[in-house]
This record gives sequence, C-alpha cells and structure tokens, in this order.
Amino acid sequence: MPEPLLLGLGLRASYVLRLGEVRAVDGVDIEVPREAIVGLAGESGCGKSTLVNVLLANIRPPLRVKAGKILLDGVNLLQMSREEIRKKVWGVKVSYVPQSALNALNPTKRIIELVKDAITQHTPATDWEVVSMTKRRLEELNLPTDSIHKYPHELSGGMRQRVIIAISTLLNPRLLVVDEPTSALDVSTQKQVLKMMLDMKRNRIIDSILFVTHELPLLRQVATHVYIMYAGKIVEYGPADHIFQNPLHPYTKALMYSVMTPEPEARERGFATIPGEPPSLIMPPQGCRFHPRCPYVMDICRRSEPRLAPVGEGRGVACFLHHSEVAG
Ligand SMILES: Nc1ncnc2c1ncn2[C@@H]1O[C@H](COP(=O)(O)OP(=O)(O)OP(=O)(O)O)[C@@H](O)[C@H]1O
Ligand code: SF4
Ligand SMILES: [Mg+2]
Repeated sequence: MPEPLLLGLGLRASYVLRLGEVRAVDGVDIEVPREAIVGLAGESGCGKSTLVNVLLANIRPPLRVKAGKILLDGVNLLQMSREEIRKKVWGVKVSYVPQSALNALNPTKRIIELVKDAITQHTPATDWEVVSMTKRRLEELNLPTDSIHKYPHELSGGMRQRVIIAISTLLNPRLLVVDEPTSALDVSTQKQVLKMMLDMKRNRIIDSILFVTHELPLLRQVATHVYIMYAGKIVEYGPADHIFQNPLHPYTKALMYSVMTPEPEARERGFATIPGEPPSLIMPPQGCRFHPRCPYVMDICRRSEPRLAPVGEGRGVACFLHHSEVAG
C-alpha cells in the first residue's frame, strides 16, 4: 500500500477553558490517500473544523494538542515550529480554505493584492509573475481572469468561493483542504464549486482533497472515502460507495436519512430527523457517545465505549451492533 498523503494517528486535542476542557478531537485516526477525495461529515459542533486545524498543525490557544502524530508526505508536522510550517507547508504542500473564508477576505484589497500578500513569503516571483501565474490558474479553471482586479464584494458568492479555492493552489500543493466550501451557496452554485474542485484534481493541480461538509448528498457525488464524526470521534469510515449504499453505524444512517430522501423504514425507526442534541464535549456521556439518541441502544452501550474496529472492505465502525465486545 502506498503511504497516504496525510495521516493523523491517535489525535487528541482540546480547547482548554476555565470551565473545563472541550475535548473536540478525542482519539482520532484518519488518512487521506493519494488521488483521493476524502469527505469528513457530522453534525455541527462534532469537531470537524478542529480536526482539520489539528491535521494542518494550525494550533492556537485555547486549542491544545494532547497526543498524536500527523504525517504529511511522511513529515511529522507536530515536530515543526509554526514558522517552519508557515514557510514550508501551508500554501506550499497543502492549501487550506477555512470555513469562514468566503467572508474573511479583506474588503479593502483587490483579489490580486490578496494573492500577493499570501504568496510573497513563499516565492521570489515578481509582481508581474504573480499576476500571470494567477491569470493562468484562473484560465485553466475557466474562471474570468478580470476577477483579479475586483474587490471581493464585487464577485458573487459562488465566484468568490471558486476564485479563493483556485488561487489557494497557485503553488501547486499536493493537498487541498476545504471546510464547508458550499454551505452558504445555492444548489447550482454548489455544483459549480464541486465541478471546479474535480477539474483541479483531473488537471493534476492537486492530488487529493479533504472536504468537510454537512451536505451528504454533495459528498456522495464526489467523495472516494468518507469519515463520519460524532462528538469528537470517528464513528465510521470507509470507501464512499460502500458507506452510502450500506451505512452501518446508527449515526451514519441517521445523518443520511435526515438529509437524503427519507425512506419508510427509516421513518418508522424515527430517523427522519435526528432526535436530541449532540452531547457536551466537556462532559460527554459514558459508554457510546451516541447512546442517548440511538434507537438501537443496548445495556452494554451505556457502560462501555465501542472501539472503532475494522469490519472488512476497508471499512471501520464503532458500534456494538457490528462487532462483539465484552462489557468491562
Ligand atoms: N475557539 C474555541 N474555544 C472553545 N471551544 C471551541 C472553540 N472552537 C470550537 N469550539 C468547540 O469545539 C467543539 C467542536 O467545534 P468545531 O468547530 O470543530 O465543530 P464543527 O464540527 O466544525 O462544527 P460546524 O459544523 O458548526 O462547523 C464545539 O463544541 C465548539 O463549541
Ligand atoms: S454502540 Fe450501541 S448506542 Fe452506540 S451506536 Fe451502536 S447500538 Fe447505538
Ligand atoms: Mg466547522
């Protein structure tokens, strides 16, 4: 098996607050293979953005990494200084479009000025070269090159998002990480953003994508692999077609049935919407964290925590229904 492009092992990270520790990433293993589009999905507050920040070693107080290892192309990011990571990793090996990117652009600068600010520390290119690189990238992706002279507010939401993603990869990083790139957009604009990301991969501008989203139907269209996160943990992972055709974890089923066409069997089970709320990550429930909301809950689920165990076909699931574990 070739080494994955990105590998996170045994990751634990918390927001350390006065009122307690928010264990937003609580023992996560995750990998992004080469040539893959990996989807990371889960309800709001389950820790997706925190996990992405940890994977990119973008750690700022009150967030602290408690344990784990992150290998990007074989290099352990947690052993590098922030300065080294800024120079050698961000924008160079991995481009990151955070959740708030659409609204976080400096409104007083034209797009090309923002590009120059972002890449001058990584390249000795002249202003003229930066302009021509940027135009070439936009052309490659069928985006209007005159958008570089516009202010962010002069572009529509969808165009702004596509331009941000396109220019984030100017230095040809191997991995693109996008956090909820489509959630503020209408359906047809979402499709354009997705199509552009696929074109970037097809044109070998990037090798792999880590795509964080609430929108499971969108993930179904593009992902090769899926990770489902609940309350700081991965509860199911595997090849996307297997997960979508036959979700195993009750939470994965609930997520799918809550957003995709509700099926009669699912409705009977009470899954048309997911009942209850995700738990506090300061004091998560004992045992399986999904047990207060799970229609299949058994005694063992309240006492013991199911581990994320392989179940064949490259899949893993953390649920007692799918592997026998003896209660401790
Ligand atoms: N800066 C912070 N300080 C304290 N707690 C935080 C901070 N950022 C996030 N959290 C908490 O960490 C948990 C995980 O949040 P995170 O933003 O990673 O979830 P998410 O899955 O990305 O949610 P969403 O889908 O809404 O983007 C939540 O309980 C959240 O309240
Ligand atoms: S371990 Fe138990 S409570 Fe948790 S998802 Fe499986 S059946 Fe439901
Ligand atoms: Mg988030």
